Amino acid sequence: MPASPTATPEHIKDVNTRYHDAAAGSYDAKWGIDFGAVGQEQVAAKVKKAFGGELPGRFEDALEIGSGTGYFSLNLATQGLIGNLTATDISPGMLASLEKTAESLGVPLTTVVTEAGSLPFEDESFDVVMGHAVLHHIPDLDKAFSEFFRVLRPGGAIVFCGEPSRYGDRLAAVPKRVGSLVAPLWRLALGADRLTHTVEQLHEDEHCLEPEVDVHAFAPADLRALPPHSGFEDTAVNGEELVANVWGWGMRSMESTAVPDSVPARWRDFAFRSYIAFQKVDVAVLEPHLPAELFYNLLLSARKPA
Ligand SMILES: C[S@@+](CC[C@H](N)C(=O)[O-])C[C@H]1O[C@@H](n2cnc3c(N)ncnc32)[C@H](O)[C@@H]1O
Repeated sequence: MPASPTATPEHIKDVNTRYHDAAAGSYDAKWGIDFGAVGQEQVAAKVKKAFGGELPGRFEDALEIGSGTGYFSLNLATQGLIGNLTATDISPGMLASLEKTAESLGVPLTTVVTEAGSLPFEDESFDVVMGHAVLHHIPDLDKAFSEFFRVLRPGGAIVFCGEPSRYGDRLAAVPKRVGSLVAPLWRLALGADRLTHTVEQLHEDEHCLEPEVDVHAFAPADLRALPPHSGFEDTAVNGEELVANVWGWGMRSMESTAVPDSVPARWRDFAFRSYIAFQKVDVAVLEPHLPAELFYNLLLSARKPA
């Protein structure tokens, strides 16, 4: 459910900071984030799709907006698709988690806590400005895209993946509802424990703020209209993930009702593998044939004129 239309930009930013700070510790487990071969393959495939089917080559100076725990940029860095990485986020908690992972992966980087609409960087300092699952949280997108344009070098690119489509958002409500309904049976079958009051309290901030952090769900035309406003060219919008997302939301809705440590590892393994299998079905069967608006995630790329 998106934030109330009367919420001010300051309120939305504040809620996003608090929500993501509270979520940082369990974020990678909740979303099945991988920093190995699987994660690398996923993000490379997204970038390729965002640019219409071809990897654009290596970007030397890369700026990521809303980096979170580093899923997108760290997986691009470890396979050499970006050079110097500056990872930014409005949430200090998310960046602290990203720094730990970057250290364990041996990825050198700079982290900066900042909001997308006011970037503390010189004009023309980056070859790419990128992000994953972040645009839908940003209250003033025109301001943010003007900033992306300003900090990009001529000929540089923007690439944003994992943005919820309007149709996908509505579709996700179905598996969420079914997942919650069958959760008691699922816990019984697996011997998983229901979240106790104490554990719920630990996540209280996260649960309470969840309905307020998402500000937009996009139609492809909405995304296409954003970059030209700031002077970009070669704008492309593509879609990905349909059955994988229906499946993934069902799994996550059930899992969110259980104490995380009581969910057997073999279930987590099954949930992850089945999600990857459905992603492959989407890529091979659905994505080449269906229009972008039918998919759960939208991907955007554009270039600043050289
Ligand atoms: C859904 S998470 C995605 C994180 C990461 N990119 C990923 O794909 O795993 C959205 C991230 O955007 C950040 N964020 C939300 N609003 C923001 C804003 N206005 N400016 C910059 N970052 C923001 C959040 O703190 C959070 O880390």
